Amino acid sequence: MLGIIGQAIFCTASRQRDRVCSAARSRVGKLAMARPMDRYEFESDNTAAICPESWAALAEANAEGAASYGDDKWTRRVSERVREIFETDCEVFFVFNGTAANSLALAQLCRSFHSVICHEHSHIETDECGAPEFFSGGSKLLPIPGANGKLDLAQVEAAILRQRGVHSPKPRVISITQSTELGTVYRGEEIERIAEFARQRSLFLHMDGARFANAVAALDCAPKAITWKAGVESLCFGGTKNGTAAGELVVFFKKELAREFDYRAKQAGQLASKMRFLAAPWAGLLNNNVWLENARRANERAKMLAEKLTSALGMKPAFPCEASAVFLRMPEQLVAQLHGRGWHFYKFIEPDIYRLMCSWSVTEEDIDDFIKDVKSSAGTLS
Ligand SMILES: Cc1ncc(COP(=O)(O)O)c(C=O)c1O
Repeated sequence: MLGIIGQAIFCTASRQRDRVCSAARSRVGKLAMARPMDRYEFESDNTAAICPESWAALAEANAEGAASYGDDKWTRRVSERVREIFETDCEVFFVFNGTAANSLALAQLCRSFHSVICHEHSHIETDECGAPEFFSGGSKLLPIPGANGKLDLAQVEAAILRQRGVHSPKPRVISITQSTELGTVYRGEEIERIAEFARQRSLFLHMDGARFANAVAALDCAPKAITWKAGVESLCFGGTKNGTAAGELVVFFKKELAREFDYRAKQAGQLASKMRFLAAPWAGLLNNNVWLENARRANERAKMLAEKLTSALGMKPAFPCEASAVFLRMPEQLVAQLHGRGWHFYKFIEPDIYRLMCSWSVTEEDIDDFIKDVKSSAGTLS
């Protein structure tokens, strides 16, 4: 049933996709006489609409009642599909957002006196308001520098050696982000190297996969090749940035690590009573590999944006553009001009590195509009 509906949706999806984008544009366009039109396309992949396939699956789930707290066909089918995609018998849990997914997964792997090694720009370090520390009852994050958003094992080793036995929190987990916060992608061999390093020191390997789909699409690999086969024990698999409204998956590839995680999620307020409405949009993503199509589209748009910025304006990305984000050094005056023209995006790294993020819904026209505005804004600067 899900498969047939998925097929039908698949055929009309790109037309619907373009309609969603242009309807939004023309609605906003009517307001444009008073002030510049707000353009959120590059601010974040959170600003995108729900993709048509997830929206349709949600509508289908809404057509009837069902058992609560995950005892429903949508939750079961998505969990089964995740096992199929990863080609292994793993444990799958739904939580509401990425912060909850990361925090609870890390809390599951740690005790209060442990620490989590992560990149200094990792979302868990910079953007989760101490939630990993809170939910683990005190596990400290150990932020480590590394080029292009990736962990540098020499720096990790040095940080471990700096720990002072019982006086320091005991390192227990290495957390990596895939794709990284700086728009790069760990290759399978890099993950294997980190996993081997972790294994030799009895550390778990956790992956923040808020943009896992973008990494799989970029590497064109089997999902297992950059997760459990490479040594990742727990993955937070993101759907929100890929096309759903909410609901992330916490996956444990070693089933024993998931022991009593359902209680942990419930205690943290992360057990959805109407779980089918978190699960159904995921069915929309995972059927017919829409998740990969969405991710490929976002990655292609980021590449196109980077290429046009370079060829038309000589602006080179600050980090390799390997997934869905482009990072640029920009002078403040140019940024002010672009903001004045309605473009929303923000500074990611001081003093002058800005992030332009692409989602599944960014169009070539959006990119051309942006390039045009960068060109004419740059032309007015002295
Ligand atoms: C790398 C990364 N991890 C996790 C998240 C999830 O965050 P949230 O709690 O806002 O869903 C985000 C969102 O921006 C992210 O960029």
